Amino acid sequence: MTDLSEKTKGFIFNLDGVIVDTAKYHYIAWRRLADEMGVDFPIEQHEQLRSLSRMESLEKILEWGGLYMTEAEKLHWADVKNNWYQALVANMTPDEVFPGVLSFLDEVRRSGGKTALSSASRNARTVLKSTHLEPYFDVILDGSAARKSKPHPECFLLAATALNMAPSECIVFDDAVLGVQAALNGGFHIIGIGKAEYLPDAERVIPGFADCHLADILDLVYKGASLTMADAE
Ligand code: G1P
Repeated sequence: MTDLSEKTKGFIFNLDGVIVDTAKYHYIAWRRLADEMGVDFPIEQHEQLRSLSRMESLEKILEWGGLYMTEAEKLHWADVKNNWYQALVANMTPDEVFPGVLSFLDEVRRSGGKTALSSASRNARTVLKSTHLEPYFDVILDGSAARKSKPHPECFLLAATALNMAPSECIVFDDAVLGVQAALNGGFHIIGIGKAEYLPDAERVIPGFADCHLADILDLVYKGASLTMADAE
């Protein structure tokens, strides 16, 4: 068992693209909407939607296409996309949880740490339920919790408060540029998830939680391990 540093007891996770591969379902639904509107939306561009709210994501796609919509039309199409997304995630199962996530969450809690899920998605609870992930989190905040969007740190500050911890006692795990910036803005330790080249602001990036142990993460954060685990691959 890893002896948790006195300094870190809180572990805050984004959902889409960090815990489960729902980012692909968001892309499929946004891509279908963009196609309906004749807006070109290659998958590389989806990086720019990561961590945006539903309405912000729609407005970004409209901007790319140089399209105008009334507020009523935006609400309608955001709802249409959401229905498509919900149909895609309705049949998710626990085997869509990313490799290593469950064992990492288990290890954190066996070591006395607390876990929080903080997502900008208003569908986060649905996804957690269908993948049987709810019991792994001490705190769950979905897209209805924070008023301000990333890179504002509100979503992570609310999670730290709910864990009864200071930001400096918490490590945030996020896969998006805006998520990394939000964590840094809030005074959190941050571990980027994915490719280091996509997360230039994250001092430390890991590809995911496969073969990842708590001691590795604490070394990365506190001993300033020179290599990110992605580099070590
Ligand atoms: C919203 C966006 C989605 C984004 C997610 C997390 O999810 O629609 O593109 O990835 O927030 O930032 P929703 O609330 O629609 O489930």
